[in-house]
Amino acid sequence: MKIIAINGSPRKGWNSDRLLLSWVDGVKSVCNDANIDVVNLYDLTFTGCRSCFACKLKDGKFFGTCPINDGIHDILAGIRHADAVAIAAPIYFGDINAYTKCLLERMIFSVMTYGNPPRNMVENPVEFTMLYTMNAHEDFVVAHNYLSRCDEMETTIGWAYKCKVERVTAYNTYQFTDYSKYESEYFDEADKRNYRDTHFSLDLKAAFDAGAKCAEKLLKK
Ligand SMILES: Cc1cc2nc3c(=O)[nH]c(=O)nc-3n(C[C@H](O)[C@H](O)[C@H](O)COP(=O)(O)O)c2cc1C
Repeated sequence: MKIIAINGSPRKGWNSDRLLLSWVDGVKSVCNDANIDVVNLYDLTFTGCRSCFACKLKDGKFFGTCPINDGIHDILAGIRHADAVAIAAPIYFGDINAYTKCLLERMIFSVMTYGNPPRNMVENPVEFTMLYTMNAHEDFVVAHNYLSRCDEMETTIGWAYKCKVERVTAYNTYQFTDYSKYESEYFDEADKRNYRDTHFSLDLKAAFDAGAKCAEKLLKK
């Protein structure tokens, strides 16, 4: 069982990373010998899609793959042949953060063609889980359909990688170790601390359960 778990947050040990590692623990709880690579995106140097179209060049050497040889070149190849991939991303300005988006651009665009109908060049389904963390409260997120851009991205990932993307969310995340040191009066620190202390463990559990469910699904294949 080949699994890739990607932390799209610059902050190791914080909300997205913790959610991701809980997902990994969930996978291991079902399949202890799963081959799991954990990747911190911000350790790598790479760009988004450069629109070179080598991935669409008929009879081209890189048809259906991304030719850019930078920090995520091998990871893109790994994703394509993985059984499952989890990506944890913080929400920045109502969307998946830009660094993670750069990975997604490359990961999706290179495997799709402009044929009619469009084709995806991924041989076998890859089970995807997207984990999001954000400052906004759940009420706000639901009332404003705040994750609509994530919905669209997941639809595209699902099409490209032949899967139904699973989702785990953590709302109202705690952002600083010490709120008193930052101008942050816009937020009610006590409320956020209370939410973190009572709720974040449930989010971690949801991530763990999603990892376990993913591994169980793979074992049944
Ligand atoms: C540049 C930036 C933009 C952000 N924009 C939003 C936003 O639009 N909505 C939101 O709910 N949280 C926003 N946040 C908060 C983060 O999504 C939240 O703190 C997240 O849990 C951070 O993940 P991490 O702890 O793994 O780094 C933003 C944070 C940063 C740094």
